[in-house]
Amino acid sequence: MDGVRHIAGRALARHLGEWRGDRAGSAYLQLAERIKLLVLDGRLPLHTRLPAERELAVALGLSRTTVAAGYDQLRETGYLHSRRGAGSWTTLPEGPVERALTAFAPAGDGTALDLAYAALPAPAEELAGALRTAGEHAGHYTRGSGYQLLGLDVLRDAVANRFTRRGLPTTREQVLITCGGQQAIALVLGTLAAPGDRVLVEHPTYPNALDAIDRRHARAVPVGFPTAGWDLDTFGATVRDAAPRLMLLIPDHHNPTGRCMDDGQRHEMATLGRRTRTPLVIDETVTELTLDGPAPTPFAALAPDTGSAPVITVGSASKTFWGGIRIGWVRAAQPMIERIARTKASLDIATSVLDQLVVTHLLDELEPVLRRRLPMVRGQRDHLLALIARRFPGWVSTCPAGGLSLWVDLGAPVSSILVAAASRHGVLLAAGPRFGLDGAFERFLRLPFTLPEARMELAVERLATAWLSLPGGTGWPGTPAEVA
Ligand SMILES: Cc1ncc(COP(=O)(O)O)c(C=O)c1O
Repeated sequence: MDGVRHIAGRALARHLGEWRGDRAGSAYLQLAERIKLLVLDGRLPLHTRLPAERELAVALGLSRTTVAAGYDQLRETGYLHSRRGAGSWTTLPEGPVERALTAFAPAGDGTALDLAYAALPAPAEELAGALRTAGEHAGHYTRGSGYQLLGLDVLRDAVANRFTRRGLPTTREQVLITCGGQQAIALVLGTLAAPGDRVLVEHPTYPNALDAIDRRHARAVPVGFPTAGWDLDTFGATVRDAAPRLMLLIPDHHNPTGRCMDDGQRHEMATLGRRTRTPLVIDETVTELTLDGPAPTPFAALAPDTGSAPVITVGSASKTFWGGIRIGWVRAAQPMIERIARTKASLDIATSVLDQLVVTHLLDELEPVLRRRLPMVRGQRDHLLALIARRFPGWVSTCPAGGLSLWVDLGAPVSSILVAAASRHGVLLAAGPRFGLDGAFERFLRLPFTLPEARMELAVERLATAWLSLPGGTGWPGTPAEVA
């Protein structure tokens, strides 16, 4: 399929970022390798028409022969398809694709150490119990059509109760059940943003949200992070300059940085939204995973919804329980819920009744699940921090008070090539630029602390081997230390 997407030479050059890991290596091979990475990790969508060789050569300051040889290499390896006179499109090779980086890769064959996702295995006992109870209650629903656009009342009540217990009084009418948090984000974007609209995001941010913005043909406007907290001044200036249609924020254990917004900044951000009449979409997918200190205050509890500046909260069962049950939700004022529900109706009509029943029963088991899960994740986080301090003393990471990952400064712009090398050593990761726009964050790596200790140790050892295999790898500040 020849797609309609096209990327210009200058834009591709920006995406490529620091693509020459080794000045002494063949430029055409490095160029081909980097374009392949962009395809594999979803930054360059499939069926995108690449710039003509001459255009890319000018944008990169290379000879046309080098670009042509790079494109030849991509064609030979199955990542580019060309038609004479029409152009060249990104594609994937036939057969099993090297599962390096893509967010959509199969989750491994059991031998790979999968850190491409920041997600935990299911709580086996509670899930088994919830499946049994869901089965017992299913009969009540199977007598009806099974289509319930807004979700089952029992689950809407359970989600509303959880908000209420967290300090945000909520009723069933304010809750729409979705197929996962990602669908919730896409539905909100589909309802509020039109093609061409600007959506203000933190930078870095959750990559599938960036993809959802892209799919809506809206434009993400990034605001970077200062050393600590959120940069409210820049948020204010950017809202003034860019007049975004909405802001999409992850204040609770932000993915990937792990930051948590304090109440003062929540107030300020809410005021900014109200003052500029900018809707705030608050992604609380990770909110239950507080590892240190008090749980965050629900953002919407500090930001009364005024209608002209709605506060829409997105949540999910994926991090609290399991990503394999595709249940999420949207919380907003009832008229907004009804608008978003109309978008859902056009998309998939309703959410699986059985999955909803399972989550309804899992929510009854929230306390015991978290009582076991949080100390385990805290231990894994501390263990990973200790491993890194010992093996990669040049890497810099803060200790996040929640969530599932570290955001590590590698000390050198090598994230993509490191991730590619790591996949050859059986460790699957998402490179830093997956979390940003235009090739940013090549110096950063998201490292989930989701594996048990022994497997995490193996992953870090393999990462050290992968690093040492990089061209010039021993000369960078982040080089692994010798261990006795
Ligand atoms: C911040 C954030 N939002 C949304 C999602 C998507 O969640 P779900 O699996 O429920 O679609 C994730 C999953 O990693 C996430 O980290």
